[in-house]
Amino acid sequence: MIEAALAARERAHAPYSRFRVGAALLCERGIVHAGCNVENAAYPEGTCAEAGAVAAMVLSGSRRIRAVVVAGDGGAPCTPCGGCRQKMREFADPAMPVRMVDASGTVLLVCSLGELLPHAFGPDLLPAEPGPPG
Ligand code: THU
Repeated sequence: MIEAALAARERAHAPYSRFRVGAALLCERGIVHAGCNVENAAYPEGTCAEAGAVAAMVLSGSRRIRAVVVAGDGGAPCTPCGGCRQKMREFADPAMPVRMVDASGTVLLVCSLGELLPHAFGPDLLPAEPGPPG
C-alpha cells in the first residue's frame, strides 16, 4: 500500500501548491486503489488524493475501505482534510487505520478514522431504506 501511495504521488498534478499527495486504499476484496491530488487553475475545483482513490474504489465495484495510506510532502504527516475524512467514513468503520507516510515511505503517524473524525455523521444514522424522494 505504501508503494502504491508513493507511485500515485508521483502522478500528482499540483502545479499551484507544489504539494504532491498520493493515497492508497485497501478494499474488502483485497485490492489496492490509488489516487493523487489533481489541482486546477480554478483553485476550488482541485481534488484530493483520497477523493480520487475513493472514486477508483467505487468504480471498481468495492464498497468497504479496510485501510488507508496517505503519502505527503515534507516532514509533517499529511493528515486528510475534513472533506476527505467524511468521504472515507462513508465506506469505513471508525476503527479503520489511516497511515501517513513521507515521500520516502517512512510512517509518520498512524491513527484511526474515528480519531480523525470523532462523532462522525455516517450512513448508519440514516434509515436503511429511505422512502420516496421528497
Ligand atoms: N491534499 C490532498 O490531496 N490530500 C490531503 O490529505 C491534504 C491535501 C492536497 C490538496 C491540494 O492539492 C494540496 O494537497 C495542498 O493542499
